[in-house]
Amino acid sequence: MDLCDRTILITGASRGIGAALARALAAYPVRLALLARSEEALRALAAELNAHGPARALPVVADVAQPEAVRAAVATVEATLGPVDVLVNNAGVGMAGPVGSLDHAAAQRVFAVNYWGALYGIEAVLPGMRQRRDGLIVNVSSIIGRRAMPNVGVYCASKFALNALSEALRLEVRADNVRVVTFYPGVTDTDFGRHELTGTAARYNRNRVPKTPVTRTAQALVRAIQREPRDAYVTLFDRAFVWGATLAPGLMDRLLARFYRPLQRFEGRSCPCTEDLSGT
Ligand SMILES: NC(=O)c1ccc[n+]([C@@H]2O[C@H](COP(=O)([O-])OP(=O)(O)OC[C@H]3O[C@@H](n4cnc5c(N)ncnc54)[C@H](OP(=O)(O)O)[C@@H]3O)[C@@H](O)[C@H]2O)c1
Repeated sequence: MDLCDRTILITGASRGIGAALARALAAYPVRLALLARSEEALRALAAELNAHGPARALPVVADVAQPEAVRAAVATVEATLGPVDVLVNNAGVGMAGPVGSLDHAAAQRVFAVNYWGALYGIEAVLPGMRQRRDGLIVNVSSIIGRRAMPNVGVYCASKFALNALSEALRLEVRADNVRVVTFYPGVTDTDFGRHELTGTAARYNRNRVPKTPVTRTAQALVRAIQREPRDAYVTLFDRAFVWGATLAPGLMDRLLARFYRPLQRFEGRSCPCTEDLSGT
């Protein structure tokens, strides 16, 4: 999509990848709707972007897990900035814990934000996009939404579900000229781990993959919006990881067992998450 005179709604824009995307897009003459729950952070980011131009930014406070709030937010954006041309479903949250000892409330919250939150956004913008016969929806998944890792099964499942939604939607809306991109970041240098709902994956798994700078991930997202590929990746490693997992799943199991050895040291220590880890 040509990034000129467009209205772009970014969920999860208060920090991390969403905020970095907003900063990257602010170099273009676009209208940015910045949606998240943290009003102060959104206002500060909007003020920063509006001070420099050429983009115009609007903070929009909403919880994506609340369908009425999402509908109201989209209505506000469309009344203030005009019809949403691009929706970037980026808001997301993680959790850690082995399958079998999961905190169900946290798991449901992960799905409420990562899966249902994206769906509510799609439902709110889709009728307008279909009517105008133009629009782009970018769903931010993860490379571990293509190949699950131990101890983050629920988070991975929420992203697998999001991918399925993207695939079905892509074909449903093709005739209406609405395009759907699934974006697969790898490990990115944000505070994602600090906001995980139960413990952090980093305390369970030894991740030896270097973190991608968030500005690089944001630039890859800008390219994905401009070029509209079916699937978009940030690094060659991310792409190779997904292709390797698809072509040789058994080999990937053996590799991951070495790289992501579960830490066996929880007994007698303070628990890194809220659920019972006895026996892990
Ligand atoms: N960082 C990584 O390594 C990585 C890798 C692959 C995929 N991803 C995906 O990339 C996306 C962004 O992650 P990030 O690393 O930028 O994480 P982050 O720094 O924790 O940012 C998450 C963003 O989502 C927003 N958010 C969370 N819950 C929300 C809710 N209920 N309603 C509205 N907004 C909500 C947060 O804002 P508020 O708290 O203000 O609401 C924040 O702006 C996520 O979908 C994540 O799954 C991240």
